[in-house]
Amino acid sequence: MKGVVLAGGLGTRLDPLTRITNKHLLPIYDKPMIYYPIKTLVNAGITDILIVTGGQNAGDFLRLLGNGKEFGLKHINYTYQEGEGGIAEALDLAEHFVEGEKLCVILGDNIIEGNIIAAANAFREQPRGARVLLKAVPDAERFGVAELSDDRILGIEEKPKNPKSNYAVTGIYMYDPTVFEKIHTLEPSARGELEITDVNNLFIAEGTLTFSILEGWWTDAGTVDSLRRATNLVAKTGANRTDLQSAG
Ligand code: DAU
Repeated sequence: MKGVVLAGGLGTRLDPLTRITNKHLLPIYDKPMIYYPIKTLVNAGITDILIVTGGQNAGDFLRLLGNGKEFGLKHINYTYQEGEGGIAEALDLAEHFVEGEKLCVILGDNIIEGNIIAAANAFREQPRGARVLLKAVPDAERFGVAELSDDRILGIEEKPKNPKSNYAVTGIYMYDPTVFEKIHTLEPSARGELEITDVNNLFIAEGTLTFSILEGWWTDAGTVDSLRRATNLVAKTGANRTDLQSAG
């Protein structure tokens, strides 16, 4: 399974912190933000990784990460997203890299306490479709929210005013290569972006979207409050721990 870290976008919600650097290079406790999603992939045995970046400081990723020696990698792939056309647009840039394999996508501002080892193994066994990771949160209206019935996701709504559950769809997604055909059918949303939630709903429509519940804390870091929260959580417990058990 290949790995993709999405680190494009302009990070305007963090202005002026992001005026002269990319959001994913800002510090979370003792490391740049992008270290955490890379480590999440590597811990799950995913070592062929593409980083999608953008903006005016894309070269700094190469200076910081090089070929990924710090993560035990031999090589890292990079590509560049022009503008800020959405998560699904950024993911579309990975089509040539994936070469018909399954892929695990992680948003560059998503940080977890534990690991995705069990979910990745379950998806390796899954014949086709997609798998998302869910986490119960107190502020579901900030995220994509899953409507659940027993062991099925009925639908996902992006930032709903009245969430149908408290399960956020985290920014960790596993797809079969049909994800690219699905992206090519999308139209921009009201906020002018190709939405990853629309992609996930297409997998629901064909009956192939499964899910795992993430163990341990999960946070994004795209606002001033969540950036501080992420730093506090990492300082308190550490991140990317492989000793936390999680169900597939
Ligand atoms: O964090 C999980 C949430 O991420 C999900 O629950 C939502 O369903 C999903 O839409 C997304 O919501 P946000 O509105 O918080 O996403 P944001 O625009 O902050 O982008 C998150 C990351 O995605 C960002 O750190 C880099 C990457 N990205 C985003 C955009 C818009 C790109 O690489 N390119 C882009 O054009």
